[in-house]
Amino acid sequence: MLRFNTEFAEGFVSPAELDDYRRAHADVLARCQEGEEGFADSLGWLSVSAWAGDEVLERTCALAERIRACADTFVLIGVGGSNNATRAALAALAPEVGARVVFAGNTLSAWELNRVIASLEGHDVVIDCVAKNFETLEPGSSFRLLRQYLVERYGAEEAARRIVCTGTIGSPLEDLCRDEGYTFVPFATDVGGRFTALTEVHLLPLAVGGVDIRALVDGAREAERACRGDGPLENEAYRYAACRNILWERGYRMELLGFFEPRFRWFSKWFEQLFAESEGKDGRGLFPSAAEYSEELHSLGQFVQDGTHLLFETFLDVAGPGPGDSLVLGGTDVADGFGYLDGVDFWDINKASFRATRAAHAEVLPCLTLEIDRLDERHLGMLFYWFAFACTVSGRLLGVNPFDQPGVEAYKALMFRALGKGAR
Ligand code: PA5
Repeated sequence: MLRFNTEFAEGFVSPAELDDYRRAHADVLARCQEGEEGFADSLGWLSVSAWAGDEVLERTCALAERIRACADTFVLIGVGGSNNATRAALAALAPEVGARVVFAGNTLSAWELNRVIASLEGHDVVIDCVAKNFETLEPGSSFRLLRQYLVERYGAEEAARRIVCTGTIGSPLEDLCRDEGYTFVPFATDVGGRFTALTEVHLLPLAVGGVDIRALVDGAREAERACRGDGPLENEAYRYAACRNILWERGYRMELLGFFEPRFRWFSKWFEQLFAESEGKDGRGLFPSAAEYSEELHSLGQFVQDGTHLLFETFLDVAGPGPGDSLVLGGTDVADGFGYLDGVDFWDINKASFRATRAAHAEVLPCLTLEIDRLDERHLGMLFYWFAFACTVSGRLLGVNPFDQPGVEAYKALMFRALGKGAR
């Protein structure tokens, strides 16, 4: 289960005010639940079954098995929406079975790319170039580099067997696959990069990496039922979206995703991309950022408690422990000043820190809380869907198109000119 609560924000947004706002904008929720016609080419993710039905899951698991039979290392070449969900899920779940997944195609740093190549030595490798447009510089350049690496290492024929591409049907990437004999996986046609968590774009690398993708998808289906089924006063994703917009209208300009599980580190990158590219446009939107507590209580925490009042916080909390979530601190004869921790579980110490932080921050800023029962595949699937839906509703309440990202084009024109694209 996933629960959203506003108890620690009531001094800033009263329950009555939130109810009024939700009633007044209920038509926005209804349109998002139905799927707005004007965005039909971007709403494929709204129905989990559309791109993660039984046939897709079977096909994906079979391909993942084939890959794992010949490789212990899988390189995902992709950036932004073609990278973040896989990295988020692998970091959060740390599956014990499966191949090692290495990330490339998300950097232009020679140092980092040299490090990636060095990390492949002594391993059996398969690469997957994930590129919706196959024009993006980072994955395009890394794909060429790693293709050449594979050919040098395995010879052209075996290298071709070790190359997968996830691209748009009819794109130059599909042509390349046909010409060179690479395996081609279709990129969901009506889903933009950052909304692809529950499509083959990510299901394949996750299955290769040992994630139970059926459980992930089941969780997403559960979230879909709630997000698309619940009415305006019960719908938690809508309540969250409404809170964000009330706070935006009140002058807040930044949302901090706070969490006390470092396993959410890469999930927070996924969250940042989702909201930044979906809402940050037309001079509007909340700047999404993250705080990895308790570590950052000793850095960002000062600003959050005591600095400029421009942000509110959304805490992502895991209610119950899972495997590996318990570690009891033993007693000692040494007078180290920490005797009050004798026999206490780190799980409870961490929880005490979370509750104290939220209570202290709530004195000066609105604190929202999103709680999941456990950190496992099912709940992560719920989070992926829930945030995607909430972000869509939030963007529509804000009055922007959540599915484009025109702001990322400006630097590209200058960069491509500097690199001579089109001239040679
Ligand atoms: O969400 C998006 O659409 C973007 O962040 C893309 O995922 C990102 O730019 C990568 O695009 P592509 O897969 O075409 O290389």
